Amino acid sequence: MAAGFPKDYIDSNELTKEQILKIVDLSIALKKCIKNGYYPHLLQDKTLGMIFQQVSTRTRISFETAMTDLGGHAQFYGPGTIQLGGHESVEDTARVMGSLVDILMARVNRHKDVVSLAKYSAAPVINGMSEFNHPTQELGDLMTMIENLPAGKKIEDCKFAFIGDATQTCVSLMFICSKMGMDFVQFGPKGHQIPDGALHVGTDEERAAFGKQLMAIGEENCKVSGGAITVSDDPECIKGADFVYTDVWYGLYDEQVDGASYMDVFYPTYQVTMDMMNLAGPDSKFMHCLPATRGEEVTDEVMDDPERSLCWVEAENRKHSIRGLLVTFCPWNVVTDEVDAA
Ligand code: CP
Repeated sequence: MAAGFPKDYIDSNELTKEQILKIVDLSIALKKCIKNGYYPHLLQDKTLGMIFQQVSTRTRISFETAMTDLGGHAQFYGPGTIQLGGHESVEDTARVMGSLVDILMARVNRHKDVVSLAKYSAAPVINGMSEFNHPTQELGDLMTMIENLPAGKKIEDCKFAFIGDATQTCVSLMFICSKMGMDFVQFGPKGHQIPDGALHVGTDEERAAFGKQLMAIGEENCKVSGGAITVSDDPECIKGADFVYTDVWYGLYDEQVDGASYMDVFYPTYQVTMDMMNLAGPDSKFMHCLPATRGEEVTDEVMDDPERSLCWVEAENRKHSIRGLLVTFCPWNVVTDEVDAA
């Protein structure tokens, strides 16, 4: 991995603001040179192992094609295709896989598994999403915002409004925005706000304790960066937002919320409509991690607006930012190291 960085990318809170911006700068540079037809084979002969315990379109394709672009190779291990905490412990699988590939990524059902993979694998591990966070999404989204800053503003001057459920993507965006020094707002119903509803399993007390931990991390980031975090069910809180973001209303674990349909909880108050976009501001931009459920958390009008919607460039930037991440975290130029050591 690049000098000064941790071995693994599990949680963006383990990186400094400067380190995160360095990955974004590298990603933008790689995007530019590859769009101009030059593919720098920085990861030639390297193999990425990709563990997916859940389905994925963007994350899988981004990692796999990013490795090809950089001259390396990716192997896909879907649900049920490798040992991961069944007959063989996660720790032993990590020991073995970490000796067989150069770098690993994992999308897991339980965050503790990606943490264990990182702890016991000699190869670096990248978190491809857990129930706790989605740190590769954070990077692509930050890159998208930086490429689309309002005139005259820096990233730390921007306001970001997340609308709806406190999914792991919402929590991740709270982390990255607070790290950058931005003004982060979650506009969502009580019971689905970061402090009380970010964990879609467990008792009310467990969710509240977890929410407290998450808020403490964000507030610690704000102390360093000068950012701010607001959580509210008052729509006025989104006024002045430069970026309006939403995610699906059903988490990974609960299609039903407290016996009620998620539609009853969120619709229509938390649907991103053009009126909501204009309440944020006349030039606010729309973002979505995708996949979207059109007509639920967002209208077609917003999603397909060529001026306001960034969601397609955001999806493309998953790949560009993952290239920067792989170059930063994959041990590369082994041949050069060997020559240096000889
Ligand atoms: N946004 C995102 O992670 O998409 P996939 O689930 O398709 O990878």
